[in-house]
Amino acid sequence: MSTSERPVILRNLRNYLTFLKDYGFSGIPSDSDIVLKLQPNTNKATLSTSNNEGPTKMKATKSITKKINISIEKVREALGDCNRCDLHKNRKTIVFGSGNPHAELVFVGEAPGADEDEQGFPFVGRAGKKLTEIIEKGMNLDREKDTYICNIVKCRPPSNRDPKSNEIESCNPFLIKQLQAIKPKAIVALGKPAASTLLGRTVPIMKERGNWYQYEGIPLMLTLHPAYLLRAYTLENRRNVMSDMHKVLAKLKE
Ligand code: URA
Repeated sequence: MSTSERPVILRNLRNYLTFLKDYGFSGIPSDSDIVLKLQPNTNKATLSTSNNEGPTKMKATKSITKKINISIEKVREALGDCNRCDLHKNRKTIVFGSGNPHAELVFVGEAPGADEDEQGFPFVGRAGKKLTEIIEKGMNLDREKDTYICNIVKCRPPSNRDPKSNEIESCNPFLIKQLQAIKPKAIVALGKPAASTLLGRTVPIMKERGNWYQYEGIPLMLTLHPAYLLRAYTLENRRNVMSDMHKVLAKLKE
């Protein structure tokens, strides 16, 4: 280690230790606790391709097959300057998705909030910072390179209300096509609305999180939404989310 690298390494180490403490660890997790593929010298894991918790009722139409070849750009093109539901009336930007369209891991959230609507990217506000922390510090992945992030609806619901079922249904074909384009190795549904949309039934998220399901043949993990985690910032919730993410890392290694 050169002398100039030392402060950066020490800062990263301190941040990581603070993160572990925050998530209830009292020691450094071993390799078997956090399943990572470390690159020499970088201390970064890579993948090989490199809230509301209220009721949600909707029927998802799912049709992913591995045979479909469509690019993420084509999906964005097909969405166009969407006015398929009323959400277009108040939005500033369509928040389509961000990250690596060839990622092995996709996170699916609920809907853009004010920051996302302003900037055009998903999860850039407070909940987004929490999600980035979970991905980068908790999973040792690079958010932009190793993951793709999108929402079940691409436009901000007014005053951040829950998306309505007709809005979710209007957007669902584009979520399906995004997943068809990316063909990830695993999907993480963040919170009840995303879980319910992907599974096509009302999901009691507190009960069902931490378990594997299938979305058209792709392993689907359900976990808590980072906004919920911020609201109910208990050690138990933080530990549960990290335990879910460790299962995801193990799945990516299979
Ligand atoms: N919450 C979401 O579900 N999605 C975002 O993009 C931001 C916050």
